[in-house]
Amino acid sequence: MKPTSRDLPVEDLAEKEAAAELKALAAEIAQHDGAYHQADAPLISDARYDALRRRNDAIEARFPNLVRPDSPSKRIGAPAVSAFAKVTHARPMLSLNNAFNDEDVEEFLTRIRRFLGLGEDEPVEMVAEPKIDGLSISLRYEDGKFIQGATRGDGQVGEDVTANLRTLDDIPETIHGGVPRVLEVRGEVYMTRDDFAALNARQEQAGEKVFANPRNAAAGSLRQKDVAITAARPLRFFAYAWGEVSGPVAETHWGFLERLRAWGFSINPLARLVSGLDGLLAAHGDIFNRRADLPYDIDGMVYKVNRLDWQQRLGQVSRAPRWAIAHKFPAEQAMTRIDAIDIQVGRTGALTPVARLRPVTVGGVVVSNATLHNEDEIARKDVRVGDRVIIQRAGDVIPQVVSVVPDQRPKNSIPYVFPDTCPECQSHAVREEGEAVRRCTGGLVCPAQRLERLRHFVSRNAFDIEGLGARHMQTFLADGLIETPADIFRLEHKADQIRRREGWGGKSVDNLFAAIDQRRTISLERFIYALGIRQVGQATARLLAKQYGGLAAWRHAMEKAMEKAADQAADGAAGGESEAYAELVNIDGIGPLVAGCILAFFAEDHNRAVLDDLAGQVEVEDFVQASATSPLSGKTIVLTGALSSMSRAEAKARAESLGAKVAGGVSRKTDFVVVGADAGSKARKAADLGVATLDEAQWLEIIGAGGSYTRLR
Ligand code: IVH
Repeated sequence: MKPTSRDLPVEDLAEKEAAAELKALAAEIAQHDGAYHQADAPLISDARYDALRRRNDAIEARFPNLVRPDSPSKRIGAPAVSAFAKVTHARPMLSLNNAFNDEDVEEFLTRIRRFLGLGEDEPVEMVAEPKIDGLSISLRYEDGKFIQGATRGDGQVGEDVTANLRTLDDIPETIHGGVPRVLEVRGEVYMTRDDFAALNARQEQAGEKVFANPRNAAAGSLRQKDVAITAARPLRFFAYAWGEVSGPVAETHWGFLERLRAWGFSINPLARLVSGLDGLLAAHGDIFNRRADLPYDIDGMVYKVNRLDWQQRLGQVSRAPRWAIAHKFPAEQAMTRIDAIDIQVGRTGALTPVARLRPVTVGGVVVSNATLHNEDEIARKDVRVGDRVIIQRAGDVIPQVVSVVPDQRPKNSIPYVFPDTCPECQSHAVREEGEAVRRCTGGLVCPAQRLERLRHFVSRNAFDIEGLGARHMQTFLADGLIETPADIFRLEHKADQIRRREGWGGKSVDNLFAAIDQRRTISLERFIYALGIRQVGQATARLLAKQYGGLAAWRHAMEKAMEKAADQAADGAAGGESEAYAELVNIDGIGPLVAGCILAFFAEDHNRAVLDDLAGQVEVEDFVQASATSPLSGKTIVLTGALSSMSRAEAKARAESLGAKVAGGVSRKTDFVVVGADAGSKARKAADLGVATLDEAQWLEIIGAGGSYTRLR
């Protein structure tokens, strides 16, 4: 990293440097919070995270005037992971009918003329606008003030993303100049291609999720519970429509766009006013040709009747207006030959067939691979190696094989047989009922899935190993220091190798080993969850732990359930399931699908080997049944503030395992409030209502963990 003001002591910072640094810190800390709380995959050690927070606090203490609205110091604790509040749109957000060719557009115009009873020569003015490939949202202004913003949702009910939308520069907080008392402005939130590429580069570097295209990136960035993450993402907005309005907005759509611009909204500069079919098609052709040079993705043009009184008369049919249509751009196609079909294994184990093509230019881009989606698609199109095929590129999506040219099929060609083993690790690849995707079952040994699995393994709700973030894991994996989960517990033997690495001073290696050591004892439910078996999340892991009680019992029962499943398959017998299998599927919350995934995991020798290896490294505690004698049994508790010994998630899990109900807010019905550091209004409310409070030591005592926990952060 190049030297920055961050290397200066806070006392020496000039105001400008301080402001710049606070901005950078807000974004950086937000990113780490997101990685930590939402993705459960911290990117840096807690010590480094704390250092960032301290630096932020110190700069703010010296320059109180520079404290930002999105400052990390204004946010407390983890954001709720609950869904966004629902918003019922005052007027539904419509969708558009599509035109795929010139004739469709001509018919659209004819219908309008007929509907309005216009004479042959009467001109119909239209506005032609690019169709932005983003996500539509609605912004409600009352008395010129932005009061609520929502996603489209299903058109009737969307999600309240007001706070997130306030972070966009393109969305004015207040608007002036003849604004109707109620005005809903609608339009598209999008990300430019350059911003998308840069965001993905940052995400990849940080070992975070990369987005498939700018639209997904825009949607993912907007729907963040932590507003600071949205603030750090380069989102933009084009306004192009309205919802509820208390008074007239204009006489024409064009006039409305001009008013929007005057109020401070961004209007797409390529919108134009045209007349008749020729005008529309010329606009379409022109923008289509310039499409590759535009800074953002568009997937067609939208044509709208300009006169608003006509729009009003035309009205809508079901969910789409009669006065507008989307004229899609054609997908670009070409013919080439399939040289081979390869199977790629994704990070979740999904096997995706990819056609290796004789390179061909499609819409100015050389294409040599195309996706075949999945095994059913190959069968449906009967795609074979050696076939001539039509491929197509639509927008920025991965090129696809559209169809085979049957009369050019080589003689001796044979149907493609989809493999039932993983090409990366030779584990079985299975398809769950109702799923199109075949998946590798070698999660813990498959190189294609290893990093993901290991990240899951150490994540918060699994082994929760502090300081072993995605980046470290990636380098440890690349250098062969870790291959399977058990290797993490053998890292100590490689201490010298680790110490030689940059950034691993004596202290941080010691910290890492200490963090690993702390987790050598683990509850059965966490252990099961950590294995990353498909369909086995925390709740299912808990059900299994509760049912079987201990690791050996569970493992034994799964082998029994499997043996019987195998016998049945051999006999072709139906019905008569084994007792062990029946016990498994009869657990309330576990059905045949989940059971199938668990048994598929156990069916693989290497998965059992990994599990046994791991069991040799750690001590798995038997499941402790909630006892009716626990002082927490049947009580309603509220957790507030930060506990130094355990995360909120863990405290909640402990309380629940002891029979308590954990509520989000304090009321008279609350039995205890557990008060950690920096607690705010909930602690005050408890005091006001006279609800009993517990400090951290009392909490540890009551859960029977006094003394056995050490500080986390
Ligand atoms: S007008 C009643 N104009 O396309 C009219 N929509 O397929 C409502 N879109 O949900 C839409 N650019 O997300 C309109 N210039 C534009 C647009 C546009 C993109 C999206 C919008 C809408 C979808 C309909």
